[in-house]
Amino acid sequence: MPKVIAFNGSPRKEGNTSILIGHIFGELENEGIETELIQVGGTMIHGCTACMKCFENKDGHCIFDDDIVNICIDKMVEADGIILGSPVYFMDVTPEMKGLIDRAGFVSMANGGGLYRRKGGTAVTAVRRTGGVRTIDSMLHFLLATGMIVPGFPVLGVGREIGDVNQDEEGIARARDAGKDMAWLLKTMEKVKGSRDLGRVGI
Ligand SMILES: Cc1cc2nc3c(=O)[nH]c(=O)nc-3n(C[C@H](O)[C@H](O)[C@H](O)COP(=O)(O)O)c2cc1C
Repeated sequence: MPKVIAFNGSPRKEGNTSILIGHIFGELENEGIETELIQVGGTMIHGCTACMKCFENKDGHCIFDDDIVNICIDKMVEADGIILGSPVYFMDVTPEMKGLIDRAGFVSMANGGGLYRRKGGTAVTAVRRTGGVRTIDSMLHFLLATGMIVPGFPVLGVGREIGDVNQDEEGIARARDAGKDMAWLLKTMEKVKGSRDLGRVGI
């Protein structure tokens, strides 16, 4: 059975981003797809130091093993579908999400560029007013540059305080549809022999 892993880049563990991911998970689980949520926001994740050790070592990991990034990379490699979630912080992703994107992305490039190729991918953001599309774009760039397949438009929910996003009917509907789209993609790919064979892709 396919598995989907989601990363919540909000420091608010039970916040709006997490609620939106929950709606996607609900649909995936209805389809019998396994789900797992990794809390990234609020953990200490540093940025890429451009040491290039991942290109020297080519072991599928970042040389810095003192935060959650290598665990996230292993989870991404193992999963069939990947969801990146971040609230809008100053019109972009949170620094924890950006650290994950840069380092997980560079490790894929250092290892032939195919670590996440042909996995299903989507992005989720919670926004109070401005910067939602820009934030989605930042996460989409990671998904597309690493060769993932994005089934339909990503999820944008409007809200400020925790739980506000539940009032955004359209955002919730999109989250549910994103779950259905991801389930369809993963189940369809399972039927196509060789559809997950890996090869190089890169920015
Ligand atoms: C540091 C910080 C920066 C923010 N920047 C923006 C912003 O640029 N535009 C916006 O619409 N909302 C902004 N917000 C509001 C959050 O995006 C909004 O409250 C969102 O629902 C939080 O999601 P969460 O509960 O998953 O953390 C910001 C919030 C914080 C704490």
